[in-house]
Amino acid sequence: MRALITKSKVRIVFSVGGSLVVPDEIDDVFIEKFCALIGELRLRHRIAIVVGGGRLARRYIAAAENFQASDETRDLLGIEATHLNAMLVAAALGRIAAYRRVVKPSDLKSDLIVVTGGTTPGHSTDAVAAGIAVSMKADLLVNASNIKGVFDKDPSRNPKAVMIGRMTAERLLGIVSKLPQTPGKYALIDRLAVETIKKHRVRTVILNGGDIENLRNAVDGRPFVGTIVEG
Ligand code: UTP
Repeated sequence: MRALITKSKVRIVFSVGGSLVVPDEIDDVFIEKFCALIGELRLRHRIAIVVGGGRLARRYIAAAENFQASDETRDLLGIEATHLNAMLVAAALGRIAAYRRVVKPSDLKSDLIVVTGGTTPGHSTDAVAAGIAVSMKADLLVNASNIKGVFDKDPSRNPKAVMIGRMTAERLLGIVSKLPQTPGKYALIDRLAVETIKKHRVRTVILNGGDIENLRNAVDGRPFVGTIVEG
């Protein structure tokens, strides 16, 4: 599947799944490779990065569940985990990046790469990234996690599941509507993110970001493995 970009200078928002940054322990090898790619891309593109919470978020959310904490409290714990990870990624990027808590569009104004995490309870960082893509009038939203793309059936249960190379946001909405949307369990991509992509026609790719070359190919307009979602 060939990606989308024809213009040379574009605005790109990366939603980096916590599953890549903290699959179990912190994956400093992934962080280093990802930051090296961003270091190259920023010479040609304007970039913002939203980082997920990964295992760190899920540990806190699970522990709070044992104490009967509310959904809101568990989401708030997850949000803090995303910010720890975002701060770490910003630190790894060094002088080219600025870690921020983004609460309004003007927080995105910077000559540096803004790196952030979650905002408010009730969704995941995918929705935050989709909102930032709208604010920045981004040409591309890259949803990078440890999954290969969107499948027609759950691939973990169905060996005959087939990956969909290109799909509408409407079709994706139909798929995610059947998936859990609870603290720590926004599988695939969250519903609010897809609604935003659909409403504002945000070009989106969903791919495995653990394969850095695949990520580079998607952004550079070369064939890549993943799903293109057309708003
Ligand atoms: P993630 O964005 O990492 O959620 O935020 P996720 O998709 O479930 O996990 P990964 O990225 O695939 O590993 C972690 C948790 O923090 C809360 C949610 O509970 C979410 O599951 N969160 C995050 C919010 O409530 N609001 C936000 O804006 C972001």
